[in-house]
Amino acid sequence: MDLGIDLGTASTVVSDVRRGIVFDEPSVLLLRDGGGRRPRLLAVGREAADLLGRSPARYTAARPVHDGVVTDLETARLYLRAVLARAGRHVWSPTRAVLGVPADATALETRALVEAAEEANIRPVTALDDAVAGAVGCGLDPLDRRVHMVVDVGGGKSDAVAFCYGGVLTQRTSKLGGDEMTVAVARYLREEHSLLVGELEAERVKTCPTPDESEPLVVHGRDGASGRPRLVTLQATEVATAVRPVVTEIVRALSGTLDDLPPQALADVLAEGVLLFGGGSLVHGLPGLLERELGLPVKLAEEPLTCVAEGAARALRNRPLLSAYRRN
Ligand SMILES: Nc1ncnc2c1ncn2[C@@H]1O[C@H](COP(=O)(O)OP(=O)(O)OP(=O)(O)O)[C@@H](O)[C@H]1O
Ligand SMILES: [Mg+2]
Repeated sequence: MDLGIDLGTASTVVSDVRRGIVFDEPSVLLLRDGGGRRPRLLAVGREAADLLGRSPARYTAARPVHDGVVTDLETARLYLRAVLARAGRHVWSPTRAVLGVPADATALETRALVEAAEEANIRPVTALDDAVAGAVGCGLDPLDRRVHMVVDVGGGKSDAVAFCYGGVLTQRTSKLGGDEMTVAVARYLREEHSLLVGELEAERVKTCPTPDESEPLVVHGRDGASGRPRLVTLQATEVATAVRPVVTEIVRALSGTLDDLPPQALADVLAEGVLLFGGGSLVHGLPGLLERELGLPVKLAEEPLTCVAEGAARALRNRPLLSAYRRN
């Protein structure tokens, strides 16, 4: 199998060169305490995520990646193996992959991600910046002589990267992403409505599509004072209010990328606009705020959640691109 893998903090997307997207689920695994022996992996993805915050004793729902980085190699290896099995791989079938890594990952962090993939029987593994992979997934050519700039707002971090002709010109990272926005929604509900909600409910509120702004959202939680179950109706605009401090901070951190760009490069970006992707970019008001703050046109990717994995898969067959941009 030839795969593009986006092992993100929030979600894992695997794209097969021939079959397209073969896995797209939350980056969560469910382990059962082995009572002194190795823990057993019971589930990955959506099934495991449903038990976040409600898993019984001896069961642990955990994330294999934090802020785009592997902290526990053994867990990441178990996780990747299970994901590939779910994606239809037979254990011994040869598998090559391009793996997305955060733009600011250190050599050691990149090595840990690559090692986890190698131990899951993927060989060779080529590491590529998420930003470059996402650009390829959206049809841009990072080998162009013109400068492209992309912004990736993920779950655990946000990156802005400008690149051209096989190299990165400048890059900024913020350690804030969609997950911080979820925390901000929970905080808003607690402070403004005295309602305590779990992570899953806060995320549901944050991602709820609101075609009609006047339609209120019903939120389920626990009363902050009495501890009893309570419902609150929330105006759609309140979600934007709740996440605004996080979005503002992300945009401020990323706008520094422009300060480092030479004038000619800035002219390219001004002509083409900034490409925006990552799940966090779907939050209310983000594209507009980014556009105002950067003073540049911003285009939201057609497939903001899967373009990194698709681009990684496409890059697998583009040797000049891989040799120019590979990180390992
Ligand atoms: N429609 C939506 N509205 C708002 N936020 C959304 C929406 N869909 C997804 N998200 C958020 O996007 C984030 C996940 O984005 P993505 O899958 O790009 O991150 P990731 O690649 O897993 O993380 P990272 O790149 O930081 O390692 C989550 O915080 C999720 O709640
Ligand atoms: Mg990502």
